[in-house]
Amino acid sequence: VRKIGVMTSGGDSPGMNAAIRAVVRTCAYYHTDCVGYFRGYQGMINGESMDMNARSVRNIVNMGGTILQSARSKEFMTKEGRAKAAENLRENEVDAMILIGGDGTFRGGKAFSDEHGIPVIGVPGTIDNDIYGTHYTIGYDTALNTVVEAIDKIRDTASSHNRLFFVEVMGRDAGFIALNSGIGAGAEEILIPEEDLGLERLLDSLERSRRAGKTSSIVVVSEGDKIGKNVFELAEYVKKNLPDYDARVTVLGHIQRGGRPSCFDRVLASRLSVKAVELLLDGKKDLMVGMVNNEIESCSLDQALKGKHTINKDLLRISEILST
Ligand code: F6P
Repeated sequence: VRKIGVMTSGGDSPGMNAAIRAVVRTCAYYHTDCVGYFRGYQGMINGESMDMNARSVRNIVNMGGTILQSARSKEFMTKEGRAKAAENLRENEVDAMILIGGDGTFRGGKAFSDEHGIPVIGVPGTIDNDIYGTHYTIGYDTALNTVVEAIDKIRDTASSHNRLFFVEVMGRDAGFIALNSGIGAGAEEILIPEEDLGLERLLDSLERSRRAGKTSSIVVVSEGDKIGKNVFELAEYVKKNLPDYDARVTVLGHIQRGGRPSCFDRVLASRLSVKAVELLLDGKKDLMVGMVNNEIESCSLDQALKGKHTINKDLLRISEILST
């Protein structure tokens, strides 16, 4: 492998820049050329790239977003799109790719590698933490900190006004963000797609909180949760059934994807990406790097795609105990 390409794809996440930097610098360290593709697979299809050296990634370890930008390319989902990308890479003499993104990115990467024989290594970057083969994905820790900081602020005003807040957080179909930020922010209830607690139970629990003399209540709702049709309808339902509650809804939205990466995410991104380059230089392909029990490991992209990263349900029990 003499020239490695790198790109970021799918929803961006804080720490992707630290990952790009680590890929580029590791290539430089091993005297291997490196080229960055813009806007994920779309840039590979359009041939939008830039040669990168150790100095191209100065002062980005602390930046949110991704200097290579990101996209969810529809064209890459077609055989023709992937063929165009392969042609561009060959023209550019790129021998292998490092793909920083989530499961959609890895699915596309696997198809690409199978069809065109260009080795790829996946680096898990998403705030959702929903990737099998790693305990943590790049950006998840920063997103948790952003959510906790936001809920702390909501708690202030909720307490002043004796209010109940429903706070919707991201995570797509996974409850990692909701569960962990909920415990971190001391939420009264946490609603996640992995566990249907039922509307009755929610009403009972809120009623109990009120009777226990709480001056505020926070319900963290994962966007993938199906208990209500959506968080607004859920709040309406609760208001109708518990008229004593003055309820409000806050949807945190894309602030969860931005901001400077936490130290944890910078270190994680750095460790994963050094390993990704070393695996390619070692002749390995179609793997995903991950951190398992604080060690950097790898599994096949197939395993990463087929497996399911499950939440720790004991955290629900802990949340229930602590919200007494
Ligand atoms: O996968 C990251 C994520 O932020 C999810 O949590 C969310 O469901 C989705 O992306 C939002 O995507 P978009 O930015 O395209 O609206």
